[in-house]
Amino acid sequence: MKVMRWSRAFTPSGYWVSNNSMSIYQLPESAQKFVDLLGIDYPIIGGPMYPCSNPELVAAVSAAGGLGVMQPISLTYVYGHEFRQGIRFIRELTDRPIGMNALIEKSSKKYQQRMSEWIDIALEEGIRFFVTSLGKPDWVAERVHAAGGLVYHDVTELKWARIGLDNGADGLICVNNWAGGHAGEKTYQALYDSLISLDVPLVCAGGIGDSNTMQQALDIGYSACQLGTRFIASSECQASSVYKQAILDADQSDIVLSERITGVPVSVINTDYIRRSGLKSGALARWMLSGNRTKHWMRTIYALKSIWQLKKSSLDESGERDYWQAGKSVAGINSIDSCEVIMTNLMKDFMIQ
Ligand SMILES: Cc1cc2nc3c(=O)[nH]c(=O)nc-3n(C[C@H](O)[C@H](O)[C@H](O)COP(=O)(O)O)c2cc1C
Repeated sequence: MKVMRWSRAFTPSGYWVSNNSMSIYQLPESAQKFVDLLGIDYPIIGGPMYPCSNPELVAAVSAAGGLGVMQPISLTYVYGHEFRQGIRFIRELTDRPIGMNALIEKSSKKYQQRMSEWIDIALEEGIRFFVTSLGKPDWVAERVHAAGGLVYHDVTELKWARIGLDNGADGLICVNNWAGGHAGEKTYQALYDSLISLDVPLVCAGGIGDSNTMQQALDIGYSACQLGTRFIASSECQASSVYKQAILDADQSDIVLSERITGVPVSVINTDYIRRSGLKSGALARWMLSGNRTKHWMRTIYALKSIWQLKKSSLDESGERDYWQAGKSVAGINSIDSCEVIMTNLMKDFMIQ
């Protein structure tokens, strides 16, 4: 039964009413704390995706009650927005909270300088939630905390989690072995077990494509789930229709890990292109990646190459460039829906009225 829009203050303890669907939900305690902390309706983060995070998608996730996280290189390079104008464009589409992804790995000075400026601009434009990936988030956390915001750091295991938290992170995006993008090695349960003693909010990233997986993740104690692949198969995502169809058609066994994109394993659909090019880095690349000095150069070479290739293939309607990232959540994804429908379906097991 749908109910009138209530303010959360008037709901019985432990229950809340989504402002969007106007339905009543009961969430596990950690998830309830998370939505309250961030001022959102659902414990769902629309994960940053290069090249798939078009601004309309980020806005749609937030407008529907989750938290859309913008990917700055998608915003500027793939979708052609000047950075500040791009944020303002998202803001025209929704006034709900949005986040920003900051890839902070040591790379070229020019890139680091640009990322630093982007973070300042994002703070000026009111963004208060940052997802940092790779590297130490201390300098990001210093600025974000000064503005009253939060930094969640991407981790695949305990050692990175400790580094993130020692350097100011407030919570962890726990990237498991089912995730799209750079996958981890641990299952979502094993990763949770290894990180829970750190006593910070843990967000499950990887493998969430339907209400069953969503419920399992929140029931074991994750505070929220970060989804990527599910939102590619949404009406608001501007990835090509052939890419979206490949996600609908794929099963878990069609997802393989390729080192040829960035030098570390990335989840992709095992298409003709991937079969032709193989999954391992070449000998020279492997040698460069093994050296302390040379590994940054090799990563930069990979990054520049893949940024171009992934942009082309994600937008190409002909399907000739079938070079598509996706995670094992493809198994539960069977239709292209709006972000609002996707999220109400994901949450259906927590709806009590
Ligand atoms: C196409 C694609 C691109 C991604 N790009 C990024 C990125 O640029 N930065 C990042 O932190 N995570 C990236 N991710 C990871 C997602 O934000 C999210 O954590 C992940 O997709 C969760 O796994 P799922 O795909 O099974 O939902 C990407 C994922 C996908 C599928």
